[in-house]
Amino acid sequence: MRPAGLSDAAVELAPGVHWVGALDPHLRSFDIILKTANGTSYNSYVVRGETGVAVIDTVKENYADVFFRRLESVARYDEITTIVLNHLEPDHSGALPELLRRAPLAKVYLSTRAQMMLKALLKPPMSELPDYTPVTTGDEVDLGGRTLRFLHTPYLHWPDTQCTYLVEDGVLFSGDVFGCHFCDARLFNDLAGDFRFSFEYYYQHIMRPFREHVLDALALIEPLRLELIAPAHGPLLRHGPRDYVLRYRELATPRLCNEARREKTLVIFYLSAYGNTRRMAEAIAAGAERLAGVRVSLYDLEGGEADGFTDLVEEADGLAIGSPTINADAVKPVWDLLSSLTSVSIKGKLGVAFGSYGWSGEAVRLIEDRLRGLKLRVPVDGLRVKLVPDDHELDACRALGQDVARHLTGTVEHRAIDLSELVG
Ligand code: FEO
Repeated sequence: MRPAGLSDAAVELAPGVHWVGALDPHLRSFDIILKTANGTSYNSYVVRGETGVAVIDTVKENYADVFFRRLESVARYDEITTIVLNHLEPDHSGALPELLRRAPLAKVYLSTRAQMMLKALLKPPMSELPDYTPVTTGDEVDLGGRTLRFLHTPYLHWPDTQCTYLVEDGVLFSGDVFGCHFCDARLFNDLAGDFRFSFEYYYQHIMRPFREHVLDALALIEPLRLELIAPAHGPLLRHGPRDYVLRYRELATPRLCNEARREKTLVIFYLSAYGNTRRMAEAIAAGAERLAGVRVSLYDLEGGEADGFTDLVEEADGLAIGSPTINADAVKPVWDLLSSLTSVSIKGKLGVAFGSYGWSGEAVRLIEDRLRGLKLRVPVDGLRVKLVPDDHELDACRALGQDVARHLTGTVEHRAIDLSELVG
C-alpha cells in the first residue's frame, strides 16, 4: 500500500503508546549491500506515563519533518522527559540532534557501548553532550505507571544495540531485531502485505553473522510477555509476536546433527585443474579422519554454489581450502567462497590452506592471509606441492590433516622447551 494512505498524525498502538515513524517507500538499497524492493520504514515510538513522556529512537535525517509532525500530534516538547536510543545507526539517530534541541529537558538512555558513538555522532555544531545515562539489562525508567526496562543485546547488529521493554503493556521495542525493510502504510503485520521474504532476507544479511549474540538476546526476550513487538523497521508485530521470536530461534540454532557437539567438524573445499590439489585434499581428509571425534566433509568447489557452501562453513569447526595457483593467485571460486563468509559467524574457527602449483605457488599464502583477516585461527602452516604430489608429499598431506584434527580436538602435543638448551 502506498504511504499516501497514512496521514501525518501519530498512530496509536495502545492508549498512550504511539508510532511516530516515517515511511521511505522508494529506497532500493540500504547500507549499499541490502536490496529493498519495497523500500523501508524508520519506526519511532512515543510512550506516555503519568509523570513523563518517552521517545524511543528517531528516524533518518531527511525524514525528520514528518517525524516531528507526528511527534507533535501526541506530545509537547516540554513534556518529553526521556529519549531512548536503542541503536545509533543514522537511520535511527538522524533526527536526534534536532530532537535534543527541541526537547532540552529530556534525559537520554542508551547502552554502555553506545556512549562513544553518541560522542562521535554529536560532533559540532552541537557544543556539548546531552544528559545521558548508560543502561544495561534490568535497568528501568519510571514514567509514572509505565516502566521502560532495558535489555542489553549487543551486536544486533552493532555493538551499541539494545532493546527496551514496556513492562505494563508487554511491548518490546526491539530496534533492528525482528525488523525488515518492508514499507507498508498499513503498519501492522496482520494488515500489511506478505513480508516473509523481507523478514528472512533481513535476518540473513543483518543478524546471521552474529548468531551467538542472537541466541543471547533470545534468552532475555523469550521469558517476556509479548503483546506487541515494535521493531525499528517494517511491520509492527502484534499478531503472533512470539512466532517471530521462534523463527529467530530456529534461524540461529546450529543445525548440524553431530552427537550434541561431541564431534568436531572439518570441511575441506578444493578446486583442481589436473587432479593434483584434489589428491592433496583427499590425503588431508584421510589424515584428519585418523583421529576419533572428527567428522570430515570433502567438497569440490567446481560442483556447487558459494551460498550453499557458506551454510556448511557456518556449522563447521574447521575449514581447509585448497587451490591451484593460476596467474599468481588463487582461483575465483575460492575467493567467491571466502567473500561469502562475511555473512556468517566464523570468528575463531580453524583455517588451513593447501594447493598444488606449477611455478610460484602464491595461492596458499594468499588464502591464509584472507583466513586470518576473517579472524579464523590458522595454527598450522599451509602446504604447497609443486605439480604432482608424490608419496612423500601425500604423507605430508595426511600429516597436515592429522595436525589440523589435533588442533580441532584440543589434542595437540605441546613440545616442552628445556630453557637450558637455549643457553649459549
Ligand atoms: Fe536500522 Fe542498524 O539500523
